[in-house]
Amino acid sequence: MTTSDFISRITRASMPDSGTAGWMAPSNIALVKYWGKRPGQIPANPSLSFTLNASCTRTELRYRFHNEATGPGVKVFLDGTPAPDFKPKVRQFMGRALPYLPFLGQMELEVHTSNSFPHSSGIASSASGMAALALCLMTLERNADPEMDDAFFLSKASFLARLGSGSASRSIEGGLIFWGEHEGVPGSSDLFAIPYPFETHAVFDSYCDTILLVDKGKKSVSSTAGHGLMEGHPFAESRFQQARNNLDSLQSILREGDLHAFAALVETEALSLHAMMMSGSPSYLLMKPGTLSVIEEIREFRRETGHPVCFTLDAGANVHVLYPEASSEEAYSFIKDRLLRYCVEGHHICDQVGKGARPLSPGVRSTAVL
Ligand code: PMV
Repeated sequence: MTTSDFISRITRASMPDSGTAGWMAPSNIALVKYWGKRPGQIPANPSLSFTLNASCTRTELRYRFHNEATGPGVKVFLDGTPAPDFKPKVRQFMGRALPYLPFLGQMELEVHTSNSFPHSSGIASSASGMAALALCLMTLERNADPEMDDAFFLSKASFLARLGSGSASRSIEGGLIFWGEHEGVPGSSDLFAIPYPFETHAVFDSYCDTILLVDKGKKSVSSTAGHGLMEGHPFAESRFQQARNNLDSLQSILREGDLHAFAALVETEALSLHAMMMSGSPSYLLMKPGTLSVIEEIREFRRETGHPVCFTLDAGANVHVLYPEASSEEAYSFIKDRLLRYCVEGHHICDQVGKGARPLSPGVRSTAVL
């Protein structure tokens, strides 16, 4: 598929004067990280993630047509109150989506959104937030084009979400999700994410992710700036190749359920991401002392007990502790006894691999969760 396949032919004439759509979309955590991009939100390397369940965004989109084609007018509300801080990001997203949904140009939009995690928790809401918004837009398009099939609906939702935030492309469907064109991965694309197309061991269907909130402050360097610093980075090409190699190695690890090999690879990915930040120009650090303490504790616990508990990080100080459901009793006791002391007021979120986005209102046709 090419970008032109995603241009909608729906016009205002086939749509009601006003309407609403609502979706819940989950967050996701990358196992192989996307870091560095080309123009048009094209990833410099492919990535793979677990879709989460508890960490999610709920969004209702209300629209009304107006008579001038001046571009979409947007108002954003977070937890029921106006959220002008979010408006620039949502406007930018709508501007990028406009060529693919030309009817937006004549719409007034109201976005009512809320997250399952507190906004100030240091957990990024851009993946789940942009995915929920993209799904709402797709519902508006499909209501006017009922023939649209589920496969196209999901691909275009991921395509649009990507325009808002690259990792949001992976927050539509459940389980293991692959984004970025990669040799040997059928159906893979830089334009949208797909469910991982290979056989995987059942242990990964219910993998647990306990998110430790080590730091709740605003990041010193945004992800957008971080991606930018990969341009001209001395290790960029090796990093992109490392990610591709890791994806190749993961194929048999995921099939066999080799959890120790999984732990080793996933931790290398997390530390490579942060190594890029530390070795760029200017260099910067997003890990905090607590992040390193947690990492040391996890590795010690794995050595001592043999339980395949491992960590990953996104672009921040918080730690995602990953473990199979079968180890959850021992792993959670360990987390309570030895890790919560590094969290701000003990805050953490117990999450798990989830099934993907779902519509909020009963009347709306669901596809991400059938
Ligand atoms: O989607 P962005 O532009 O916020 O980038 C996210 C990048 C990482 O979270 C660090 C890695 C990933 O693949 O999700």
